[in-house]
Amino acid sequence: MDQGIEKKFISEQEVQSIVARLGKEITEYYSEKEDLNLLVIGLLRGSFVFMADLIRVIHLPLMVDFMTVSSYGEGTESSGNVKVVMDLDEPVEGKDILMVEDIIDTGNTFNKVIGLIKYRRPRSLNICTFLSKPSRRVVDIPIDFCGMEIPDEFVCGYGLDFAQKYRNLPYVGILQQSD
Ligand code: IMP
Ligand code: MG
Repeated sequence: MDQGIEKKFISEQEVQSIVARLGKEITEYYSEKEDLNLLVIGLLRGSFVFMADLIRVIHLPLMVDFMTVSSYGEGTESSGNVKVVMDLDEPVEGKDILMVEDIIDTGNTFNKVIGLIKYRRPRSLNICTFLSKPSRRVVDIPIDFCGMEIPDEFVCGYGLDFAQKYRNLPYVGILQQSD
């Protein structure tokens, strides 16, 4: 096992089959849209590994862009006070937007980001997340494509970090308790 990891939670093979399934669902969904103008937007940094794999299994013409937001506030829980650290390069107006996130936890961060994107008048807006912790949700997020629902457990790997580390693991793991 990699250093600091207690156990695997989602193996590399499972990760890849989740991504393949999502790619199929997303391709089928958008294939039915006329005059598709698809822009896939990833939230940095967590989504970059997932997004890199995901776009390669979406078999449609698309553009990609990234956005960095930071959620500031007290404690470990995201507050919903979201600051845009790096904005998109591409205009959103009139486009079919697919937002991609690594994990939706309380939903506070994503809720604010959805608001920002909607304000720019996309033609459509859909949400894809690799992981979701429904038991932690504070605000409702209408997820269209979900990789896997997980219990309230802190996970890392496949883009997800703990103190900026572990993003490079090809699987999702649970950290060793440090006490
Ligand atoms: P939310 O605003 O509470 O939904 O926070 C979502 C963000 O918190 C995600 O984009 C992650 O950056 C981070 N996060 C939440 N749960 C985990 C986890 O289990 N591992 C790593 N990061 C997490
Ligand atoms: Mg994140």
